[in-house]
Amino acid sequence: MNNVTIKRIGVLTSGGDAPGMNAAIRAVVRGCVYHNVEVEGIFQGYAGLIEGDFKRLNERSVAKILGRGGTILKSSRCVEFMSSEGRKKAFAQIKKNGVDALITIGGNGTLTGAHIFTEEFGLPIMGVPGSIDNDLFGTDHCIGFDTATNTVVDAVDKIRDTATSHNRLFFVEVMGRSSGFIALKSGIATGAIAIILPEDEMSVEELVDTLTRSESSGKTSSIVIVAEGSKSGGAYAIANAVTKKHAQYETRVSILGHLQRGGAPSCYDRVIASRMGLGAVEGLIEGKTDCMVGIINDRETYTPLKESISQTNVPNRDELRIARILSI
Ligand code: F6P
Repeated sequence: MNNVTIKRIGVLTSGGDAPGMNAAIRAVVRGCVYHNVEVEGIFQGYAGLIEGDFKRLNERSVAKILGRGGTILKSSRCVEFMSSEGRKKAFAQIKKNGVDALITIGGNGTLTGAHIFTEEFGLPIMGVPGSIDNDLFGTDHCIGFDTATNTVVDAVDKIRDTATSHNRLFFVEVMGRSSGFIALKSGIATGAIAIILPEDEMSVEELVDTLTRSESSGKTSSIVIVAEGSKSGGAYAIANAVTKKHAQYETRVSILGHLQRGGAPSCYDRVIASRMGLGAVEGLIEGKTDCMVGIINDRETYTPLKESISQTNVPNRDELRIARILSI
């Protein structure tokens, strides 16, 4: 608990942007206005915190951003904040700008920085999980994951059209860093014949067995979803390994890349971002600190940052079993 009377909150977004971050910023700003707390937008993530890139925000500053992708505060991956010198400079800016508490919206790296920062300087901090990777412990879903997954489903549906026309085997690589959430959910939703996850690898032999079995019942084209963090080395590596041994396959590879991070946030992401943004403000006002706000079983929760960054959410293994049964 913190004993600080919170009169001014700083808010920043850091790391990989995620659809719904703007909705979270809006909720933080309007939550502050509702509770008579001033709010400073900090631009460019931790880099802007170090450089003093602050701007006072009000309820109108966040008008019409609820449905926009990206982050109006901009973002960065800031190496300087990883050093104690960098964090000292950042804290000097906190003091200079009269900020009593900080809300950081981002993924594992962002929340790791936040945890170290609050431990070093005692500044009350609340993390908000914004990451398409969906790997933070202490929430059922991170902001951006639902939108990113729907973007992947839309792209794979299109790839399937051409795969079907040409009787081809497509390997589609999706983001997620070392986590397989996007791959698993989108794999089920698009009927992928196989899903290669960091959490559950599949050998080339197993994959070829699966393909052969489906071919024997008349299947002529297939989609394999590959998580970028899989130990296989990615979609190109698996595709090459398959064609090396089984030249009969006409394979193609599609790396979906950063399009997965863009676009208008889904309804679900807008709603959880709104709830978590307000939850972050109210948690700080109630005296909570060094926590991540999340939603578990439809209820706002506050998990110590230490736990949310050291443990990871893992995909539901039963969903993998379901995918295998249904994708024949
Ligand atoms: O953490 C979000 C994420 O999009 C990962 O899925 C991906 O591995 C990484 O960021 C890409 O980072 P960058 O935008 O810095 O290339």
